[in-house]
Amino acid sequence: GTADIGVTGLAVMGANLARNFARRGHTVALHNRSRARTDALVAEHGHEGAFIATETLEELVASLAVPRRVLIMVKAGAPVDGVIDQLVPLLEPGDIVIDAGNSHYEDTRRREAALAERGLHFVGVGVSGGEEGALNGPAIMPGGPKESYAALGPLLESIAAQYDGEPCCAWIGTDGAGHYVKMVHNGIEYADMQVIGEAYDLLRRVAGIEPAEQAEVFSAWNQTDLASYLIEITAEVLQQVDAATGRPLVDVIVDEAGQKGTGRWTAISGLDVGAPVAAIAESVFARSLSSQTAVREEARRTLAAGVTDAPVVDAQGRDAFVEDVRQALFASKLVAYAQGLDMLTAAAQEYGWSLDLGTIASLWRDGCIIRADLLDVIMRAFGGRDTERHPEPGARAEGQPANLLFAPEFTRAIAEALPAWRRVVAAAVAAGVPVPVFSSALAYYDGLRADRLPAALIQGQRDFFGAHTYRRTDRDGSFHTLWSDDRTEVDGDGTPV
Ligand code: 6PG
Repeated sequence: GTADIGVTGLAVMGANLARNFARRGHTVALHNRSRARTDALVAEHGHEGAFIATETLEELVASLAVPRRVLIMVKAGAPVDGVIDQLVPLLEPGDIVIDAGNSHYEDTRRREAALAERGLHFVGVGVSGGEEGALNGPAIMPGGPKESYAALGPLLESIAAQYDGEPCCAWIGTDGAGHYVKMVHNGIEYADMQVIGEAYDLLRRVAGIEPAEQAEVFSAWNQTDLASYLIEITAEVLQQVDAATGRPLVDVIVDEAGQKGTGRWTAISGLDVGAPVAAIAESVFARSLSSQTAVREEARRTLAAGVTDAPVVDAQGRDAFVEDVRQALFASKLVAYAQGLDMLTAAAQEYGWSLDLGTIASLWRDGCIIRADLLDVIMRAFGGRDTERHPEPGARAEGQPANLLFAPEFTRAIAEALPAWRRVVAAAVAAGVPVPVFSSALAYYDGLRADRLPAALIQGQRDFFGAHTYRRTDRDGSFHTLWSDDRTEVDGDGTPV
């Protein structure tokens, strides 16, 4: 065969990736379970490049140059296993199977191990940027065996978004690392969307700023250090007027947020690896709460507001409040990034991945949904992009801060935003406007920097009811107080101290 790559699964993401490859000069073999989609793609877009339409997976595989590269873009879960099972007998050692869907990283680890036994490379690839990105340049996060990147990387890099001449694509790490990093990208995406939502809610309910006017606020914010794709599209959504009713579209849309699972996976994995990703988890919970329609209905009728001294933001105080909310949004967003990057390090330790946070941040600068000016600053805080830098699993590369907030520019930025951030959370609480991520992010910040945490008391409680022991600030070893006896203290050997 002669094709550079085969694509199976030609729904919009697969079709757009196939077209992107073809537009970059690659010969692309096409396959879909039902032939109609393949034909439609060739009929509509055949002129964009070199396509080879095939009817069966056998034909698809036969049309490929060696080593064969087959990209699967079907619904995550069982459908991916179905395609892999059909493909494997058709392939030869050295061939590369690419899963570009939003698969769970544990599935990717399992599939990689199974295919490796047969000498095949399995590469789980995170792709972000939606339909638009898939066609014109997504951010691409490939995992899998490093050797496979020699044969696959250049192809992927050629279709990726480019930032300052650098492709938003680089090998992330072995087996499921690519899908894991894409998952965390989505967790951050959830948090970023939620903090924007909280800002909107505050501006509306505390300062009375209507959607059309808020569109201008968000457009103005897009000229500040908040500049990002999500802020930009927020302005677009807010200025949209519903044709049927003449009302702001946002007022006509049912306020129940959907989710396909990647944000939830991020929160679950954060719990698994022991990383405190509370702001990300809160953004998932906020979507879940929004969807509890019947309970919300009853709560609206029965639960008190308890709001007595709601803050009043009049025309005079408006600009100051808007600026406060902007700063609170920025600080909360930074915390979401700090938590997401922190969990990458914890996961690297758990799964033996060598992850370079500077390079990962560089991939998110363009093409993906969380693309933002901030990502270039984050990349630089982690020593810039260096695709050959592979720290020890679970360690940060030399010179990289242990937490994003320790990078001097961010330590400073948060310090400047703090007074506004505290004012906004206090105002939200007083007004009864829920700000789960603004407030959780602030609690994370205050928790990190606290001299003493009530964790000491929790250790005392655990020791009381379960003899779980505690450590002392002034001596090594573990200790237990004989709570139900004479309350003397014993050391790890049970010897009174
Ligand atoms: C992306 C998006 C993409 C998808 C999300 C939506 O990076 O391009 O994250 O992968 O749109 O999975 O997720 P929810 O449906 O869960 O909001």
